[in-house]
Amino acid sequence: MINKIQDLIKEVDAFSSNNLDEIEQFRIKFLSKKGIVTELFNEFKNIPKEEKKEFGQVLNILKNKTQDKIDFLKLNLGDGDVGKIEIDLSLPGDPETLGTRHPISLVKNEIIEIFTRLGFTISEGPEIEDDWHVFSALNFPEEHPARDMQDTFFIEKNPDILLRTHTSSVQVRVMENTQPPIRTISPGRVFRNEAISARAHCIFHQVEGLYIDTNVSFADLKQTLMYFAKEMFGEETQIRLRPSFFPFTEPSAEMDVSCSLCGGKGCNVCKYTGWLEVLGCGMVDPNVLESNGIDSVKYTGFAFGMGIERIAMLKYDIKDLRLYFENDVRFLRQF
Ligand code: DAH
Repeated sequence: MINKIQDLIKEVDAFSSNNLDEIEQFRIKFLSKKGIVTELFNEFKNIPKEEKKEFGQVLNILKNKTQDKIDFLKLNLGDGDVGKIEIDLSLPGDPETLGTRHPISLVKNEIIEIFTRLGFTISEGPEIEDDWHVFSALNFPEEHPARDMQDTFFIEKNPDILLRTHTSSVQVRVMENTQPPIRTISPGRVFRNEAISARAHCIFHQVEGLYIDTNVSFADLKQTLMYFAKEMFGEETQIRLRPSFFPFTEPSAEMDVSCSLCGGKGCNVCKYTGWLEVLGCGMVDPNVLESNGIDSVKYTGFAFGMGIERIAMLKYDIKDLRLYFENDVRFLRQF
């Protein structure tokens, strides 16, 4: 009996097929209700006591080998030469998917390129700042609402330490260390205590610009910004300056560009005004020059500041600020 089972094991070992019907026939022959293995298990009760152990062991080997063989053949179906797992080295591999640059980095780099063509250098400052560099040196009065807890993240133990709310703080750092002529831009991350929505985030990016020299006028500011707008949004772009207020500039203005999507005719992006607000600017307030050790009789300057997210939104028609931070590749791959 045991010899018979061992012959069956040899038969199972020798069996090979890449035909599903044949494999199924093989399964029926051995493992179905009336199959060889089942019948042999039924024989078990008739086997003499002293042979039962060996019989059981060999029969179990037959059963397991048969099942393993069926599983293996099914796995290899269609692979041609069954029994050997072949690796086809001529098949194309799985490509490494490359990431893309984030739209904020793209726009930041473009802004940097435009201003470096005009001779601006790049300067940086710390994200964790003190009151002096973010507010006091920029002519913010003690009670100015921008210092309010609602806008600024302060460090609880020391309210003099805070996360910068704008990159204008880098102006101060540059003026501290450099005498004019100064021509620099400062890209960087800023923080405000804002509820996150499609139009606001507590972390965003700005680029600050500062130009100080003898005889710098508002006309220089306007020409520089017009060059920037045309380079960034296209040659046909128009700009307009509206009077505004910032503590660190006098006079101050906000700049709009003609809507590049409708060409100024009016659409839902520009809310049918034909204009899009892009930045704040002005002539550096003499108080700011003096606070930072620069002679305000000899020197004048202009400054401007813009949000990179906003420029990227206008350039790429992005409707929701939160998309920048979600890092969904379906969004990022589009740029
Ligand atoms: N710091 C301003 C802000 O965060 C932007 C700004 C406006 C910067 C006018 C300037 C400027 O340098 O002159 O809203």
